[in-house]
Amino acid sequence: MIMKDGLELKDVVLLGRTMAEYAEYFSLRDFDLSRERVLDMGAGVSSFCGEASRSGYSVVAADPVYGLSVSEIARKCETDLQEVTAQLPGVMHKYTWKFYQDVEHLRTFRESAYRTFLPDYTDHPDRYVRAALPTTPFGDDEFTLSLVSYFLFLYEDQLDYEFHKRSVLELARVTRGEIRIYPMSNLLAEKSWWVRKLMTDTGCTGLSFEVR
Ligand SMILES: C[S@@+](CC[C@H](N)C(=O)[O-])C[C@H]1O[C@@H](n2cnc3c(N)ncnc32)[C@H](O)[C@@H]1O
Repeated sequence: MIMKDGLELKDVVLLGRTMAEYAEYFSLRDFDLSRERVLDMGAGVSSFCGEASRSGYSVVAADPVYGLSVSEIARKCETDLQEVTAQLPGVMHKYTWKFYQDVEHLRTFRESAYRTFLPDYTDHPDRYVRAALPTTPFGDDEFTLSLVSYFLFLYEDQLDYEFHKRSVLELARVTRGEIRIYPMSNLLAEKSWWVRKLMTDTGCTGLSFEVR
């Protein structure tokens, strides 16, 4: 087994997580979701939007891949899942394995997410909006809570600081409550440089930041 310092990804992968995973790392218990209008930005093939909508919550998912056909999305996410799970054994030492028992357990979550996502994307196209940060088609204060999972900070080697700053400011424009971003680490599983830079950027003084 060749041990590596981090995942080596040529571009942003198309994966998805479940509502149980979002609930855990975004601490969604802090919110009464029935009172929120939620944006899942960079949602990919996550089942959060579908699962939450079925529970009666108001959620919109946004991602640049929406607009592609179901088969194109399925093909890309299966290829990307294959690639990531092939690399994971070499970077196991970089992560704490408390939520997932092992790579196989993690894979079952990813598969469950995209298998739930695909029919929901077909049956409820209104829930899925094609959008790519750093701009979005949404109105000012349209959402009360915005979530960004495994996109910002993670790809700091591919997406520069200006991109991150413009994206956070855009999310602040469309959100009148909180924006939660997870993780704050890069592909080396180290805290992204952009976190502290954003928190001290005078262009972001209207925002209040908290690191948990
Ligand atoms: C690793 S996936 C994360 C998906 C999901 N949020 C999750 O946690 O499983 C990264 C997602 O970011 C999306 N993405 C790529 N460029 C983007 C952009 N400019 N703005 C928003 N999302 C983007 C990709 O299409 C992909 O679905």
